Amino acid sequence: MRSYEDDGQSQESLKLRPNQTESQALLIRRKRPLSPLERISSLLSQDVLSPEVMQLREQEQHEEEAEKCDPAVVTGEEDLETYTGPGTAKEPKAAAFQRVEGQVYPTLLGESLLTSGELLIAEYRKNRRVEFRKMFQLQPGSRLQSSWGIIMHEDLMGQPAGRFLKTSRGVPIFIRRASLEDYALHMKRGPAIAYPKDAANMLLMMDVMEGDCVLESGSGSGAMSLFLSRAVGSKGSVLSVEVREDHHRRSVKNYERWRMSWALRREQEWPNNVEFQHADLCSSSSLLAGRGFHSVALDLIHPHLVLPTVLPHLHPGAVCAVYLANITQVVDLLEGLRCSGLPVLCERVVEVPVRDWVVDPALQKDGQYCTRKAPNLGEDPRSQEESSDGANGENNFGPAFGNVPYIARPHPQQMSHTAFLVKLRKFV
Ligand SMILES: C[S@@+](CC[C@H](N)C(=O)[O-])C[C@H]1O[C@@H](n2cnc3c(N)ncnc32)[C@H](O)[C@@H]1O
Repeated sequence: MRSYEDDGQSQESLKLRPNQTESQALLIRRKRPLSPLERISSLLSQDVLSPEVMQLREQEQHEEEAEKCDPAVVTGEEDLETYTGPGTAKEPKAAAFQRVEGQVYPTLLGESLLTSGELLIAEYRKNRRVEFRKMFQLQPGSRLQSSWGIIMHEDLMGQPAGRFLKTSRGVPIFIRRASLEDYALHMKRGPAIAYPKDAANMLLMMDVMEGDCVLESGSGSGAMSLFLSRAVGSKGSVLSVEVREDHHRRSVKNYERWRMSWALRREQEWPNNVEFQHADLCSSSSLLAGRGFHSVALDLIHPHLVLPTVLPHLHPGAVCAVYLANITQVVDLLEGLRCSGLPVLCERVVEVPVRDWVVDPALQKDGQYCTRKAPNLGEDPRSQEESSDGANGENNFGPAFGNVPYIARPHPQQMSHTAFLVKLRKFV
């Protein structure tokens, strides 16, 4: 790892320049990668910091102001501290640390502060339950409205992602960027989507790799198209076929909206690798002519009717993964395959259960942590009481490590059944 300390340039910066004070020289010396402890402390909210750390922070802020006033001191992109990572100074920056309102935040290559047009998630949790979750697009002049109050979009611009912001009613709402999973779950839908947990398993079944050519049908709302697009990357391609025009248009819109938001967030393009076609896959022989596919994903009614058109274009030994909501549809598919004698083996029929759990420290009615009670080994109970309040076992975060019992049980709200996945493999 390269550090500023072993860089000839930074050795130079340790020397006092004419008209430079010790503290200014110190400031320049501070342009170094943060230690893990400093990074963690910079992520903590102010109210959990010790007075010593707060004092250091204030001192740092004063020095910063001095730095701004002194034209001799290089400020660069204002408060951007850069750590160039391994390699030479000419290589692109691997990571950076941005300072906002006196706090230092690590940012990865291309991940900048929130900007107009990005897709964000606002979330409010009470008693560890999600009470409110909303995806929205950051736009000047707009406001995020909820039963818990309002946040002006202007107040979010230029902020780091992953931050609590208070509404007009003083309620802290967590703001972060939308992941692809969030986007698929919250984007406007035409038909039902392939749920992310199922889509992820279909990618595994299909063994999709960067650079693959994949066929998908129907496009539906475009969720599966997005997961496939990410899996095959810029060197691969996805052909997505949809029979209904309204669904075809919806999937294209959803795809383009995600790409637009991605470009703002990363300052680089999401691969433009999905070809959406409005057609009936049953009669798409001409569309498929001359094309071969590493794998196929089918999420449509009566998949056994499209397989005769699709299978000639699937590589021998490759997989066609089928998404079906009902087990009776799975039976129809297998019966269809039996009767048609198509060259595919049914390797697996699976359901993908995901079970959420509640795992939390146990709390008393007054909101304080419960504490484990040690067995009474015949000691004087008064001495136990004395040791449990104060000197022993308590710190700023409550009882010491290991002293709090936890509750752990399945979450009362579970995602119910979504689909069956059928793995078909072509043989020759
Ligand atoms: C459940 S949706 C697919 C959802 C999609 N996988 C997603 O993640 O958003 C099923 C779609 O298949 C389409 N479809 C049904 N039969 C088709 C066919 N023969 N050719 C092309 N599309 C078809 C329907 O119009 C519908 O939009």
